[in-house]
Amino acid sequence: MSSSTVSFQTKILKVNPESIIFPPNSHITGELPTITDPESEKNLWEAINILKTTEYNVAFPTETVYGLAGSALNDNSILNIYKAKNRPSDNPLITHISSLNQLNRVIFNDSNSAGDNEWRNIPEIYHELIRNLWPGPLTILLKVPKNSNLSKLTTANQPTFAVRLPNHPVARALIALGDIPLAAPSANTSTKPSPTLAQHVYHDLLGKIPLILDSGACDVGVESTVVDGLSMHNEDIPLLLRPGGFSLENICKMGGFKNGCKVESVLKKNDKGEEIEKVRTPGMKYKHYSPNCKTVLFVPFSHTKDEDKDLSVSNLEPKIKNAMLQQLNSAPEIKKVGILTSFKFDKLPIKNWFADSNIKIVQESLGHDGKSVQSNLFRLLRKLDEDENVDILFVEGVGEENEGLAIMNRLNKAAAGNIINF
Ligand code: TXA
Ligand code: MG
Repeated sequence: MSSSTVSFQTKILKVNPESIIFPPNSHITGELPTITDPESEKNLWEAINILKTTEYNVAFPTETVYGLAGSALNDNSILNIYKAKNRPSDNPLITHISSLNQLNRVIFNDSNSAGDNEWRNIPEIYHELIRNLWPGPLTILLKVPKNSNLSKLTTANQPTFAVRLPNHPVARALIALGDIPLAAPSANTSTKPSPTLAQHVYHDLLGKIPLILDSGACDVGVESTVVDGLSMHNEDIPLLLRPGGFSLENICKMGGFKNGCKVESVLKKNDKGEEIEKVRTPGMKYKHYSPNCKTVLFVPFSHTKDEDKDLSVSNLEPKIKNAMLQQLNSAPEIKKVGILTSFKFDKLPIKNWFADSNIKIVQESLGHDGKSVQSNLFRLLRKLDEDENVDILFVEGVGEENEGLAIMNRLNKAAAGNIINF
């Protein structure tokens, strides 16, 4: 069997997350949920049967983005994930679990870990973080145990594996009822923005997978935060490998990391505010989150300590206008322009700047607070690129505090160097 020769009639089945009820503490003990809606239960079991009895993959909702699931223990399931996404095989996947009990039993082959022993396979550095933030958009690195059942393809042969316990009831129910840890990257074609709606998955993976479970929009909108507590440079200072659904500030507070958390240097900036790439987590070196159209990122705040700089929107207005017109003048084939605004650009009369031209403007607001911008980001990137088919996309950047760090990480990659700093 090989997925390259199989073409599926991709089905979309609805599952109502509100019909799934987990007992308190079941993310530790592994108790199973009850499901009150028979249709949702039937659809969940259809997905579980595919995952348990075949080597095909199923897309499912998580609180961050839609994932593409295969058994983390089965080489062929994982091969099929890499094929469906066209993902480079040296980029390891996150293993999703439904409880600490399952982590111990199935991944560590440790069945005697109930009660107070549930924590014994997890380094102490993570305990407070997990107590406060699981289930949720937090991924940690653990050492692959010697006798582990994990597929070497899940970990891309790394000595460590990434693991997360998602908060979405459909994700957790799928993993708990099937009792298989699921390897699941975002369910998009590699290099494209991650999917936050079932229809995004359908757009990218039609014919490549048999089933998509649809529970509507993902709340968080960007992927989980990846924390490495194993290879610390200084005592007790873990590394943030990927900013994500939980902010750096929240990770430090909830993890009890009094000395902070070191942001991996892949995220550091040079004097011009450009990201300097350094490969630590394999996924970071690849092209990511890229719409088909050219994407230009405006950074309307300073990366230098120059406090005299007037970064008010009225002061920046002529500069923004000139920068946009310059882009358009250098590419006369542009007929349709997409604009994504958030905190400052919403107030600018951008459409008026192009009133005398034949250029069509499609403008969308990402929102006026970090959570909204994060949650709308991938959906609106895809809307303007795939539905509106704009020829160029201008995006307003945000400050890097709280949700801003994850948002700017994604936007910097989407823009692939087309960045205008003020
Ligand atoms: O929110 C999420 O995390 C989503 C949903 C579906 O759960 N999943 C997701 O998976 O974003 P993916 O495969 O797109 O991203 C996994 C990231 C990559 O940057 C990868 O390099 C890193 O985690 N990673 C996985 N295993 C690792 C390891 N052993 N060491 C370092 N980085 C690792
Ligand atoms: Mg991804």
